[in-house]
Amino acid sequence: MMKIEPTDGAFGCQVRGVDIGSGLDPQTYQKLHETLYENRVLVLKNQTGDADDFLAFGRQWGAPIPHVLDTHRMPGYPEMLEIGNMTERSKDRQSRNNAAFWHTDQSYDANPATSTMLYARIVPDMGGETRVVDTKAAYDDLDQGMKKHIDGLVALHLYGATAGRDGEEATLALNTSQADEVPPTAHPLVRRHSVTGAKALYGVAGTAFGIEGMGREEAEALIAELKAHCLQDKFIYKHKYEVGDIAMWDTQMTLHCATPIDAPDGPGTERLLWRISVRGKPAVYQ
Ligand SMILES: [Fe+2]
Repeated sequence: MMKIEPTDGAFGCQVRGVDIGSGLDPQTYQKLHETLYENRVLVLKNQTGDADDFLAFGRQWGAPIPHVLDTHRMPGYPEMLEIGNMTERSKDRQSRNNAAFWHTDQSYDANPATSTMLYARIVPDMGGETRVVDTKAAYDDLDQGMKKHIDGLVALHLYGATAGRDGEEATLALNTSQADEVPPTAHPLVRRHSVTGAKALYGVAGTAFGIEGMGREEAEALIAELKAHCLQDKFIYKHKYEVGDIAMWDTQMTLHCATPIDAPDGPGTERLLWRISVRGKPAVYQ
């Protein structure tokens, strides 16, 4: 029996009693979809499925996105990434910590991600958490004057544009052909969810570098103010992974940030997660 309960953090739900390894029926998916959209974060505990099961699970949420960092795609699974410190690439510090800055996935793309899911395969005893901000709650918490000021504004985004600020990690630079795939794009600063229609602050960290029709300094100050507003503890859920967790978040209404990790150094220090980001909607909402 599926059991859904709140996480022990500021928001989000965790789910027990379902396993992608044995397949989920349409009613279960419907309940999971509704739970994610209502709660921003969903953690499925004790999963036993393999990479094919995970990809099939991902396809139930939208269309999996082959990441623009084509050098980092998982062998045999171009729509998945291997995250952590166990691959050859991750010996490089920057490669290993390429998501340790506040952002939401594919906000640099005209057709951004709608959810991201990480399947924990190997977890370290300490560290490796992901922090997630509920940017709907952050928007709802703004005063009416600020809401009026920002409703209708359009932010400009570019891959990694503002990563590396505020003491966060930078992102790997794209090569020319990768950069050609993701030219600057624009999204509403207050964006409506594609399924629920609810409003949230969108992409106010990581990729937003300006606002249409606004001077650079004023735009950067406004984006920084909104980011700082989002990063209050009351809006943050910090997930500590256990093996078998699939942790997912609604990327239309969240920001997230990985915790920097070191290269493995003995038992209990290795980390491996499989990642899928999808765009679009679950078929049932099309
Ligand atoms: Fe991310």
